[in-house]
Amino acid sequence: MRFSTAIAMLAAALLAPIAHADTVASVASPDGALKVELDLNGEGRLAYRVSRKGQPLVADSRLGFILRNDRQFLRGLKLHAQSARSFDATWEQPWGERRFVRDHYNELRASFIEGDRDHRRLDVVFRVFDDGIGFRYEFPKQPKLDEVQIAEELTEFAIARPATAWWIPAWEWNREEYLYNRTPLAEVGTAQTPITLRTADGTHLSIHEAALVDYAGMNLMKGGDGRLRASLTPGSPAKVVRHVPFATPWRTITISDRAGGLVESSLILNLNEPNKLGDVGWFKPSKYVGVWWSLHLDKETWATGPRHGATTANTRRYIDFAAENGFRGVLVEGWNVGWDGDWFANGWDFDFRKPTPDYDLQGLAAYAKSKDVHLIGHHETGCAVSHYERQMDDAFALFERLGIDAVKTGYVCDAGQIERQDVAGGPVLREWHEGQWMSGHHLRVLEAAAKRHVAINAHEPIKDTGLRRTYPNWISREGARGQEFNAWGDPPNSPEHEVTLVYTRMLAGPMDYTPGVVSLTGKNGQEIGSTLARQLALYVALYSPIQMAADLPEHYAEHPDAFRFIKDVAVDWDESHVLAGEVGEYAAIARKVRGGGEWFIGAINDRNARSVPLKLDFLDAGKRYRAEIYRDGEGADWRGAARFRFVREERTVARGDALHLWLAGGGGAAVRFVPLEE
Ligand code: NOJ
Ligand code: CA
Repeated sequence: MRFSTAIAMLAAALLAPIAHADTVASVASPDGALKVELDLNGEGRLAYRVSRKGQPLVADSRLGFILRNDRQFLRGLKLHAQSARSFDATWEQPWGERRFVRDHYNELRASFIEGDRDHRRLDVVFRVFDDGIGFRYEFPKQPKLDEVQIAEELTEFAIARPATAWWIPAWEWNREEYLYNRTPLAEVGTAQTPITLRTADGTHLSIHEAALVDYAGMNLMKGGDGRLRASLTPGSPAKVVRHVPFATPWRTITISDRAGGLVESSLILNLNEPNKLGDVGWFKPSKYVGVWWSLHLDKETWATGPRHGATTANTRRYIDFAAENGFRGVLVEGWNVGWDGDWFANGWDFDFRKPTPDYDLQGLAAYAKSKDVHLIGHHETGCAVSHYERQMDDAFALFERLGIDAVKTGYVCDAGQIERQDVAGGPVLREWHEGQWMSGHHLRVLEAAAKRHVAINAHEPIKDTGLRRTYPNWISREGARGQEFNAWGDPPNSPEHEVTLVYTRMLAGPMDYTPGVVSLTGKNGQEIGSTLARQLALYVALYSPIQMAADLPEHYAEHPDAFRFIKDVAVDWDESHVLAGEVGEYAAIARKVRGGGEWFIGAINDRNARSVPLKLDFLDAGKRYRAEIYRDGEGADWRGAARFRFVREERTVARGDALHLWLAGGGGAAVRFVPLEE
C-alpha cells in the first residue's frame, strides 16, 4: 500500500461519521456543488458536514458551547423547526477591490431545543454560496437563559482530506506579526485565522470568521484526531458575556479550485451587515508619505530632542514633497505629547490633543491645506486603551477642525497586555487584542471617528472580519508582519512572506503594509529581501485603499524611474482578478482603476525565479494600450546588488495578447496599461 493511501485511510477512519447520526437538515449552494448536512447523533449532539461535487470535504464536525454560568450546551438537542430561503442581490462598495459585489446564497435556519426540563434553545444558520459557507449560532430570547457566559465555543472543522496548511501561531507575544508556517494540516498547532489549506487534490480552503462584533476572536486548535477546534480569545469573567437574544460572528470556509479564487471571493464581506454610516464620500482613497521609515531606521526619533522627526520644519519638507509628487496624505508620528518616556511600557502619558512644542500643528495643517495636502493623524495608544477612549472624542474633533480626515491608530504592547480601566482611577484589567472587550473598543473608535469624518487605519489591530462593509471608515489595518520588519526584524521578511500574505492575511481585508522602500535597505545596512520591481508590484498585489510611499524623499530621488510607478499607481478599483499564482509561491493580480480606463498588474514571487505567461484577456475589447512595464532586469535577485537590477520599458498591447513576465527570485513586476487615444 502506498504511504499516501495509508494516510488517507487513517484520516478517513479518524474522521468517520459519528455513530447513529440522523441527518436532520441540509442545504446546497446555488450551483449545487456544495452541500451542507446537519446531523443529530444518538446523544442529541449536533454536527455539520460539507461535501463538494459529491465528495466529502468537511467531515462531521461538532457544534456547541461550554458555558461558565450554566450547563454546557451540546447534548440532548432535538430539531424544533427549520426554514430555508434564497438570496441574490448585488451591492456597491464605496471603495474597494471591486465596485459591485454579488451576494448570492441559499440559507438554512435550523432551530434546536433541549429535550430536558429547561428546554433551552439554539438556532444554527448556514449560508451556502458557490464559493464557500458561513454559519453562525443565534441564541433566541427564551425563559431559562438570559446572560450567557461562554467558556468555550465547541465549533469544529474536520477537514476530510490530507492538506497543506499556511498559518501563524495564536497566543504568542507578538500578536499577528509572525512569518507564516507551511506544514501538513496534521502539524498545525494553535493557529490564528484566516488559515489557508490546500487539500491533496488541489482544493483551496480558508477558514476564518465574518462580522466579529461584541464577541471574542476565534483561533483554531488541533484536536487529538486531526480536527481543528475553535478556541476563543480570553476575556473576563468569561471569554464572551452576552444577553439573549444575540448572534455569534459567522464561521466561514471559503472554497475554490484555484488559489486565486480565495482572493477573488467576497464571502466575508457578504456576511457583514450593510453600511451603517451612510455616505463616506469624504474618505478619499489615496497614497501618502511621511515621517515613518526614518523612525524605524533610527535616523529620527518619536521622542522630542535633537533627532525628533515630527518637527515643523521636517513636516513642511514632507508636505512639499507630497504636493510636488501628487500624494494626498502626510503621516507624522511622534507629533503629540507622551513619547518622551518609556511609552511602550506606559501609554498613560499620551495626550492626543496636545502637540509637542516643536510641532506647529495648526500652522502645518493650514500649510498642508494651502498645497492641497492633508495631514494624517497618529494615535499610538501604547495599549492604555481606556485612557485613549477618554480623549478620543476631543482628539477627533480637533482633527476635524484641522482637515485631518484619516488617523493611524496603534496598540503596541505584548498580546494580553491591553489595559482596560472601567472607572478612572480604578483597577486596571488586562485584555487581549482580539478579545470581546477590544472588539467593542474598535467599534467605539470607528463610531466616534465617523461623527468627525475621520477614517481609521489600525495597527496591532483586532483581525479584519469584513467590518469595513458596515463601517466604511475602517479603511485599513496592519495585523501581520509589515514592511517595518524589513527595517529591524530579526529575521526580516522572507521572499515568501508577501506571496503568502496574498493568500492568507489579505483574505481578511486591506492591509497597510507600507510598500515602496526603493532603497531596499533597512537599519544598519540590513538588506531587504526584494528586488526593486517587487516593491512596486506590492502596491497592486497587497490591496489597501491607502498606500504609503514609505521610503525617504532622498531615496526616491535616486530612483526616478521606479518612483514614477509609485506616483502613477491607483488605489481604488472597479475590478480585481488573480491571473496566476500559488499559495506562498507567486501571485499576479490585475486591477482596473475605479471609474477609469487604466489597468494595473502586480506580480510578486518567492525565492525561485520563474516565467509567468499572462493572457491579457481582461483588457477592454477594441482598445489598444500602452503597457508601461517595470520588471526585474537580467540577473536580478533578492540578494546583494542584483536586487537593484531593474528595467522600465513600454509596449503597445491589446486584449488577447500574451505578456511573459520573468520574475527574479524575490522579484516581481508592475505594469500600468494606459488606453491609447485613437
Ligand atoms: C507599530 C506600527 O506598526 C508602526 O507603524 C508604528 O510606527 C509604531 N507602532 C509606533 O506607533
Ligand atoms: Ca506593527
